[in-house]
Amino acid sequence: MFRGVRTIDWRDGRVVIIDQTLLPAELRTLELTSVDDLVEAIARLAVRGAPALGAAGALGVVIAVDQADREGWDDERLAGELARVRAARPTAVNLSWGIDRAASRLAQGRQAVLQEALAVLDEDVAANRSIGERGADLLDELFARSSTATQAIRVHTHCNTGSLATVELGTALGVVRALHQRRRLGRVYVDETRPLLQGSRLTAWELDRLGIDYRVVVDGAGPTVIARGLVDAVVVGADRVAANGDVVNKVGTYPLALACARAGVPFVVAAPESTMDEATPTGSGVEIETRADAEIVEWSGVRVAPAGARALNLAFDVTPADLVTAIVTEDRVIRPSELAGG
Ligand code: MRU
Repeated sequence: MFRGVRTIDWRDGRVVIIDQTLLPAELRTLELTSVDDLVEAIARLAVRGAPALGAAGALGVVIAVDQADREGWDDERLAGELARVRAARPTAVNLSWGIDRAASRLAQGRQAVLQEALAVLDEDVAANRSIGERGADLLDELFARSSTATQAIRVHTHCNTGSLATVELGTALGVVRALHQRRRLGRVYVDETRPLLQGSRLTAWELDRLGIDYRVVVDGAGPTVIARGLVDAVVVGADRVAANGDVVNKVGTYPLALACARAGVPFVVAAPESTMDEATPTGSGVEIETRADAEIVEWSGVRVAPAGARALNLAFDVTPADLVTAIVTEDRVIRPSELAGG
């Protein structure tokens, strides 16, 4: 059975993560033992990707409980520190979801909190295994009656949705991996995913390790690659899916969905149930993280825009439900056009 890299884990009272800021040059782990460590790692994207953030949130409650014990925090202080973790990145609903899951066991004590957090990690691995297979089944089905039925399916993907974005296995990239294992996968296109290059740094690193044929394209080329007929399906992940099926994901997702609609190419989203946010009616109600100007106006610490140039660094965008062919979770395939109001 396929095992991905373990992106986040609990070992000897510490949260152990792969420091994703160093990839692909270096595969190094980091140990986190305090709320400050965790908040910093989340904010600078050392750990990232919605499901991995869910795991970080859940394990973060254990870290906070241990720190409260060491430093004598009262309940109010503990709640304040958990709020700080929650606020470290606001868009992916999984972070709050993971914190809520583990914090729901606070009254039963530290061991119960740890058990719940570890269950979040185990469930993520199992959910991703189902998403990969269900997503590959869906693509097989979508192309069953077309000429692609006997050909390899060429996929475009965005950002990083693989092992590195989850506990171990990946969502959208898990679908790509499942197609590859079934010998149904053609070339994969992945865009760079400016400004932090999750596509060219992380997804390309994972595709390399999987032995999958791929090309990296610049973000602006994605719609053209689709329009030129080089792509049979776009498969992406999500940071939050609103009740009406609007999909919030890494900025640059929306242009791909528009290009798919124009070209008649399926636009498929793969995400766990923990990313479904029934409490938020539409995508317009989701806070979109705005990050530092420096990520855009500088390149590796060197200024590339004129001195004084300001940026608008929106980290995510909203793809309206009517542009989404299907959302694949571990439990179901949702067709947003069939949702109320979709
Ligand atoms: O800013 P990031 O790298 O955390 O953004 C990640 C994404 O947008 C992913 O597509 C999403 O979290 C799904 S990961 C399985």
